[in-house]
Amino acid sequence: MDIKGLIKSRYTIRKYKDVPVPEHVINEIIEAGRWASSVHGFQPWRFIVITNDLLKMEISDILIGKSKTIGSGLEKLLLLTAKTIANAPAIILVYNQNVFKDVAYKFHKISNEKVEKRYINIAELTEIEAISGAIQNMILSAHELGVGSCWNTIPLFCDKEINGVLKTDEQLIAVLSMGYPAEDGRRSKRKSADKTVKYKD
Ligand SMILES: Cc1cc2nc3c(=O)[nH]c(=O)nc-3n(C[C@H](O)[C@H](O)[C@H](O)COP(=O)(O)O)c2cc1C
Repeated sequence: MDIKGLIKSRYTIRKYKDVPVPEHVINEIIEAGRWASSVHGFQPWRFIVITNDLLKMEISDILIGKSKTIGSGLEKLLLLTAKTIANAPAIILVYNQNVFKDVAYKFHKISNEKVEKRYINIAELTEIEAISGAIQNMILSAHELGVGSCWNTIPLFCDKEINGVLKTDEQLIAVLSMGYPAEDGRRSKRKSADKTVKYKD
């Protein structure tokens, strides 16, 4: 399928067949992420792949635990995502190594505190934009390889607990669940272009 076909035919998959995704397929998906664009070529992303059932269950249980205390109507999404993660043959945790933000702190100190704060904010945003590009590359590549995926950010409400299990202190950006689709799914609707695009003379 060409790129346009892949973009338009992909949709979120949350139910997966109980079939492992081979390591070479996972590596191909990650390779697409690694080739995303990034500011100064800093490549701030880092990926942790988990296929171990016990570890996946541990992360899923963290989300279930959080659903009991979170409130704000988020418990349903936490439980849905916990189920998706438990059911997925593979999850890929995407982290931000904060390379650019660190460089911003170290080398670009600006005397005016207000300007500096804005600089740091934009540095952080820039890294997250690059990582989002990497994630989009990955979910499209997965789709090309017949692997369904869901881009999950609700686990960020439990980032400290998840990081405790994985023994890392990096910034969690998303948890991608992956597997061969066990549901038909449906393409979600899009707002019409005239509501989202404006040409200015
Ligand atoms: C940035 C982002 C965060 C998301 N977080 C979650 C999540 O935490 N749990 C979940 O079940 N789905 C999550 N989704 C999936 C969306 O809810 C889903 O993609 C949306 O319904 C649009 O459907 P589509 O991907 O089929 O176009 C997320 C999607 C994106 C892009």
